Amino acid sequence: MPVSPARVAAFDILLRVDQQDAYASELLHSEKLEKLSLADRALATELVMGVLRWRSRLDQMIAAASSRPLNKLDADVLTALRLAAYQLRFLTRVPARAAINESVELVKRAQKRSAAPFANAVLRKIADTKIEPLPEAIAGDPIPFLVREFAHPEWLVKRWVAEFGVERACAICEHNQRIPSTSIRLDSVEVAQELESEGLELAPGRLLASARIVVAGEATRTRAFREGRLFIQDEASQLIAALVGTGSRLLDCCAAPGGKTAALAARNPTAEIIAAELHAHRADLLRKRVRAPNVQVINADALALPFQGGFDRVLADVPCSGTGTLARNPEIKWRLTPEDLNDLHARQVGILRAALQQLTPGGRAVYSTCSLEPEENTAVVEEVLSDAAGFELRECRDELKRLRETGELVWNDLDSLLNGKFLRTLPGVQPCDGFFAAVVERVDSENP
Ligand SMILES: C[S@@+](CC[C@H](N)C(=O)[O-])C[C@H]1O[C@@H](n2cnc3c(N)ncnc32)[C@H](O)[C@@H]1O
Repeated sequence: MPVSPARVAAFDILLRVDQQDAYASELLHSEKLEKLSLADRALATELVMGVLRWRSRLDQMIAAASSRPLNKLDADVLTALRLAAYQLRFLTRVPARAAINESVELVKRAQKRSAAPFANAVLRKIADTKIEPLPEAIAGDPIPFLVREFAHPEWLVKRWVAEFGVERACAICEHNQRIPSTSIRLDSVEVAQELESEGLELAPGRLLASARIVVAGEATRTRAFREGRLFIQDEASQLIAALVGTGSRLLDCCAAPGGKTAALAARNPTAEIIAAELHAHRADLLRKRVRAPNVQVINADALALPFQGGFDRVLADVPCSGTGTLARNPEIKWRLTPEDLNDLHARQVGILRAALQQLTPGGRAVYSTCSLEPEENTAVVEEVLSDAAGFELRECRDELKRLRETGELVWNDLDSLLNGKFLRTLPGVQPCDGFFAAVVERVDSENP
């Protein structure tokens, strides 16, 4: 029996995410997927993201129905089981027979023919099992409830409850399990009109005047997207670029794929902008995506840039865990370990130190991450500033006020975007991804 193209694509992507540390959102936008019909692409996306979002719940169901422990199953057998379990429990429009049969066929297609009867038996048992209602939140200890109800690893939930409180930790977990909205950044009102004439339904941005939320339609299928005049970018990410402000010579030292570089270029059309990226293939992607004539892309390490200073604005949007973007990148929650946060912290400290050395006196750097973890945020800034003479932390509030006054920021409650002197957004609490930013100014007049 042939397997539907959407399920084959979803199966292959899930295996690559699992075995090669690939990112699902990148694979779902690859050329291979472009060949699928719109309906098949939508189903493949739903299956991949659904399996990744609910993985621990699916594994519990499989473990309860399986005669073998999960860690003894081949990766392709487990992936096929997860795919069917997701359809059986979370999708109402897929008949159980189709979900089971296609996953059994996927097992055979993966040359695991001998495991097909086992897969069939496990899936039939899951299909026949009555769904137990979830236990009510345990008043004394909400952590086990959040872990189970929202399929998150315990260590992450524990630290969010400690850091943000139960209510906000719950809002974050709940948000991570939903399909996030798509936001775009527009350079002009004319582009919005053009998009609407092409059938895209847009709503105003919640944080920024230049943002729109895509209510219906495919932004990637529009002429403006193909011509690089429309950028798919979360509103918090757009806000980070707005925080950088204007200058005459700007450095974006961790730039690919270029969402913020493009926003900086739109805001600074006559400035010289250097966009550095460590990985050659990502630097190529950056060149393709950002076509502004005043942007020069270089393939270089932010720790060893081929110039020494002279920038009045620097953006260090550093590599991070991405825990503020789990609704878009759910695989991160299963991959990340507490130890990774220490490694990331060390890399981030190095990059911020190097970025500050590129500032001209009076110049400002914005340090940013899409992480919720203090190790990658406040702890990095505090460590760097503790031994860097001639630099001062500025109030993000002042920058947000400036953006309110110019009408760029349309969100009224500035306090909700701040944590002390820092910018901080929480997914599910504010209508955007979770981002952190700090503004540091070089206050000495000598060469550092
Ligand atoms: C968080 S992403 C940047 C996202 C980008 N600013 C945007 O808005 O589209 C971090 C980027 O930094 C790159 N990177 C990591 N280490 C780097 C280094 N030492 N120097 C330069 N780039 C680096 C990564 O490859 C990745 O592309």
